[in-house]
Amino acid sequence: MKSLSVWKVSKYFGNVKALDEVDLFVKSGELMVIMGPSGCGKTTLLLVVLGALRPDKGSILIGDEDVTNMPIEKRNIGYVPQDFGLFPHLNVYENISFGLKVRGYPRNEIDERVKSLLEIVGLEGLEKRRPKELSGGQRQRVALARALATKPSLLLLDEPLSNIDEMTKTEVIANLKNLQRKTGVTTLCVTHNPEDAFKIGDQIAIMYSGRIIQFGKPEEILREPRNEIVKKIIAPIYMLWNKH
Ligand SMILES: Nc1ncnc2c1ncn2[C@@H]1O[C@H](COP(=O)(O)OP(=O)(O)OP(=O)(O)O)[C@@H](O)[C@H]1O
Ligand SMILES: [Mg+2]
Repeated sequence: MKSLSVWKVSKYFGNVKALDEVDLFVKSGELMVIMGPSGCGKTTLLLVVLGALRPDKGSILIGDEDVTNMPIEKRNIGYVPQDFGLFPHLNVYENISFGLKVRGYPRNEIDERVKSLLEIVGLEGLEKRRPKELSGGQRQRVALARALATKPSLLLLDEPLSNIDEMTKTEVIANLKNLQRKTGVTTLCVTHNPEDAFKIGDQIAIMYSGRIIQFGKPEEILREPRNEIVKKIIAPIYMLWNKH
C-alpha cells in the first residue's frame, strides 16, 4: 500500500477558488475522512487526486511518485462516486469484473478475483442480481468490490453514506471499516456529516472554503478545535456527547 501526499494544490473554476493551497498527507493503510460543509471543495479534491481534474497549482504524490500529470487510467485508483455509479444493465458479477475485463485479465483470474471479492464483501450467491434488485447497503458493497477489483493503491469514496438510511448505516459503516482494514488500502473518504466522519475516520481533515483548516485524530480535534469555525462544524458531535 502507498501513502498519498497533496502539496499546495489549488483549483479554480473561473473566479471560484474551489481548492486553496490544500496540503494533505494520508499514511499508507490509513482511512482519512475529509469533512466540511456543502460547496467547500471536497468532491473537487477527490477528482484532482483521481486525475479527472487537473490542479492549477501544486502537486500530488502516490507513494513517492509524482502523479500530478499522470493520466487517470495510469494512477490505479479505486473510486466510488456519490451515487455508486454501478452499471444498471450489468449484474453484480459483471459490475465487479468490469475493470479487470477492460484491462484484459484472463477469464480464470477474473473468476477467482471476483469470487474472493464477493466473499470479502459478503455477497456470495448474488452474482446474477442487477443493481436494482439489491438493497442500498448491498449496492454499496458491490461498488466497493468493483473499486477494489484492480487492487488499487488508493481508494476514494465520495459521500459513501449519503444514500443510506439511518437503520442500515451502522451495518454499512462496519462493512466499510472492516473492508478497509482487511485490504489495508489507503483511503480518502468525503462526507459533510460530522457524526459519520467521527465514526469512520482514523484521521479527520476539516475542510472549509477550499482549505483544510485542521486535521488530526478524531479525539484530538474534539479536544482542541483550532478555531471558532472548527468548533461550529463539529458542534453536532458535542451535542451528541452531552446527551450521554
Ligand atoms: N465543474 C465546475 N464548474 C464550476 N464550478 C464548480 C465545478 N465543480 C465545482 N464547482 C464549484 O466549486 C466549489 C466546490 O465544489 P465541490 O463540488 O468540490 O464541493 P463539495 O464540498 O463536494 O460540496 P457537496 O458537499 O455539496 O458535494 C463550489 O463553489 C462549486 O460550485
Ligand atoms: Mg461533493
